[in-house]
Amino acid sequence: MEKSIKLRSSGWFDTPEYYGFSRKAWLRSEGFGRHIFEGKPIIGICNSWSEFNNCNVHLRQVAEAVKRGVWAAGGVPLEFPTISLGEMFVRPTSMLLRNLMAMDVEESIRGNPMDGVVLLCGCDKTTPAQIMGAVSADVPAIVVTGGPMLSGLWRGRKLGAGSDGRKLFDLYRAGKLSEEELCEVEGGLGRSAGHCTVMGTASTMAGLAEALGLALPGCAAIPAPDSRRLEIAERSGGRIVEMVREDLRPSRILTREALENAVAVDMAIGGSTNAVVHLLAIARRAGVRLTLDDFDAISRRVPFLVNVKPSGEYLMEEFHAAGGVPVVMRRILPLLHGGCITVTGKTVAENVEKAECWNDEVIRPAGNALQMEGGTAVLRGNLAPDGAVCKQTAASPRLMRHTGRAFVFESYKEMLAKIDSPDLPVDENTVLVMKSCGPKGAPGFPEWGHIPMPKALLERGVNDIVRISDARMSGTSFGTVVLHVAPESAVGGPLAAVRTGDEITLDVPSRRLHLRVEEEELNARLAAFLPPPPHYHRGYGKLFLDHVTQANLGCDFDFL
Ligand code: FES
Repeated sequence: MEKSIKLRSSGWFDTPEYYGFSRKAWLRSEGFGRHIFEGKPIIGICNSWSEFNNCNVHLRQVAEAVKRGVWAAGGVPLEFPTISLGEMFVRPTSMLLRNLMAMDVEESIRGNPMDGVVLLCGCDKTTPAQIMGAVSADVPAIVVTGGPMLSGLWRGRKLGAGSDGRKLFDLYRAGKLSEEELCEVEGGLGRSAGHCTVMGTASTMAGLAEALGLALPGCAAIPAPDSRRLEIAERSGGRIVEMVREDLRPSRILTREALENAVAVDMAIGGSTNAVVHLLAIARRAGVRLTLDDFDAISRRVPFLVNVKPSGEYLMEEFHAAGGVPVVMRRILPLLHGGCITVTGKTVAENVEKAECWNDEVIRPAGNALQMEGGTAVLRGNLAPDGAVCKQTAASPRLMRHTGRAFVFESYKEMLAKIDSPDLPVDENTVLVMKSCGPKGAPGFPEWGHIPMPKALLERGVNDIVRISDARMSGTSFGTVVLHVAPESAVGGPLAAVRTGDEITLDVPSRRLHLRVEEEELNARLAAFLPPPPHYHRGYGKLFLDHVTQANLGCDFDFL
């Protein structure tokens, strides 16, 4: 039965003084008759469309579908733009601006007469930024992601952007792919709008929006150009109007249990390591205590089921055809909190009870899991007292327990200058270490952590060695890469003390990352550490440097 609630927007329009009248007049100046909007829920459509963001470039069409759904359900849709962050274009890194986008979204919602909001997102940072902003604003909200692009195609071979792009580019670097072939790959890698079509950060965050209960079941994996993407957008438009009437806000949905569900799904899909940072930030916005230890505890009990690149073989199109996130959730339902409420108004268990799998090779049954543990391992030790992460499903099994001598790059710039040097003194046992790539050091916590394999080793057929940094890594990347080392080197974390030739032990099964240097010596090196000069002295950059938290806390601002 419909519940009658006082609409938030009535605080703008139904006021006796001049401004109530003038706001109605200004809305009518857009051509809306008074009978069209009076007394009806106004639904904001928060659109991160931009031609500087190929992943989200179709979202105006998606917005039209949302509007149809809103109108049909008796609401009034009003679309508004926000900052958009295109992963490949924004410098120095989109992560520097995630919090700015979250603030833009939050304040746009807070400041305008909307009763509910539909969040249109897709590319990596746009999904967590919109969720963070909407959680803080706490008006009814539903997420509609833009969906993955079509699978890449080159000479009859399917390609996943960007995992296969990285592999083919490495072949080009090693002289095994011509300039002409690389140009062909460039044209076939991304064949449509939509986000990267592997289980990178965008696909992961779209899946986690579903897992959190913030998107309609099945939304995450529908390809961007598929007509069913528009259909689910239309249904989401209808549902947000009902959510306004039910007063179903993010604060009712985002409980500790819902966050735990998202972590579990992240592990089962072999999600991007970036999801750790984003979920920590979302949890803090929701006032839920979630820590790296929760990720590790859940990782140890949730099997890895989704056979999609970069950790598996298939692409998001096949994942969608196999049944998508609802099937994953049904398969790990005993490990989830099935009673969590979602944007459907139903529970997680009710949403997925009829989800059928159409391809057990793409979404494995729990009894035939790809790995018995989840995708992300959380490491600790004297090199990362506040934690580090490793995507174990995309790493080399032979390097899961490894001790080797460090070769240190003091910065990303130094790494780029030296990595292709033919006489770089490295071998298959070397541990590459890169510093100054964290939230403050880089700045902005860029995706530099996938240190390219040294050319000298590629030419010898060595495709993976242990690489450690305080950076992030693209969700489309792979290899035995340790990331998010906290505290970062630029604030005097132990990573700052590593020197070329030191021995480092990585032990993923024991979750250990250890610098084999005597404690006294390590303390002496850290005591001599001098922090680098700040990158910014004004503007948003200064705000970022002054207030960003470390990776283990989600890199949100301390005042948000
Ligand atoms: Fe946008 Fe990969 S570049 S999701």
